[in-house]
Amino acid sequence: MPREYFNSLNYTIGNEDTSLELAVMPENIRHVFAVAGSGSRIIPLLSKNPQYLTCADSSPNQLALAELRLSSLKTLDHKNYLSFWGYPPYVMTPSVRQAVFESLKISSSARKITELFFKKYNWEPLLYAGKWERAFRKLSRINRWVVGNRGLEIFSCRTKKEQENYLGTKFPKKAWSFAIFILGNATVFNTLLYKGNFPQKNFPEPMHVFYLKKFKNLFEQDIVRKNYFLQLLFFGTLRYPEGLPIECDPDIFLKAKNGLKKTKITYICNDVIKEAKHPSMPIDFLSFSDVPSYLQPPREQEFLQEIKNGISPGGIIINRYYLRIPENLNTDGYQDITDNFKWNISKEKIQMYSFGIYKRT
Ligand SMILES: C[S@@+](CC[C@H](N)C(=O)[O-])C[C@H]1O[C@@H](n2cnc3c(N)ncnc32)[C@H](O)[C@@H]1O
Repeated sequence: MPREYFNSLNYTIGNEDTSLELAVMPENIRHVFAVAGSGSRIIPLLSKNPQYLTCADSSPNQLALAELRLSSLKTLDHKNYLSFWGYPPYVMTPSVRQAVFESLKISSSARKITELFFKKYNWEPLLYAGKWERAFRKLSRINRWVVGNRGLEIFSCRTKKEQENYLGTKFPKKAWSFAIFILGNATVFNTLLYKGNFPQKNFPEPMHVFYLKKFKNLFEQDIVRKNYFLQLLFFGTLRYPEGLPIECDPDIFLKAKNGLKKTKITYICNDVIKEAKHPSMPIDFLSFSDVPSYLQPPREQEFLQEIKNGISPGGIIINRYYLRIPENLNTDGYQDITDNFKWNISKEKIQMYSFGIYKRT
């Protein structure tokens, strides 16, 4: 388990489009169990009214940030939520942000941790404080330098047709392939971010070929302005309000806010597998993030068995796999229902993951 990497504040926006988990999760279930991350991967799930939500993370910093996010969802309206966190198009002054922070109800441990980060950033938004977001800021500078204005012009396209024409005639394909070649490799990610804990890829395709294929999917999926991950890769920041993570969608935000009124939330700072083995009540939906890609054998093969008794009959587990799909995963007692969600998977806005969706039989 790469504890060294997963101990700091790594994600403040995150790199998962929770629209998939949201599509898979049933309405009105009893117990949702989810890896916390920045909290933005959890908020959309509240829109489906679970009775209990357990947020687990091995990093106290991530858990504190998730708690702050949930508390801000409870207290703030949509506009103030977006401006408190730093999402465009709204702005909030540092002094107002500090006052808002002081008014939010969170545990004293979460307050202590998140206050330190706010002080470090002079009460500016925390949206880009995570190590992953800071690393992407650096990568975006190199990307911009390589693809130049001709590459950035893709963000001027307002329709899919326009973008298709632009990609066929103007997009600097060679420069883009070069950018991906120099940026999309384990050495860069290990140096900038993972400190040796980058997942060990287990497919033969070279990494830059894999990334080029995935970005091609993204360019064809929708206009790039609507994709927050692509905005981060090209600009290092979010600048188009039409392309924000789904926690910012006004409809999902409101539903999540209403859901939160009835949901009882527990925060656990520990290994998600250890906790899912003995949950306080059977788990009906487990959102694992891409934790399975970082597991070592034999756990990589057996983790679904390890947690089996904690999952209720009919309960669903959703795993993301990044560069490493668990080999010979033991799925005894589960039905693989991944293919039921092919369409939703094709619409997921990061496209760098494979998915494993399992139903306890
Ligand atoms: C797995 S990471 C997301 C990783 C990201 N998609 C990537 O590969 O760079 C999401 C969250 O999982 C937490 N995490 C990692 N391993 C964990 C574990 N075994 N138990 C609980 N949380 C874990 C991290 O602290 C982080 O907040």
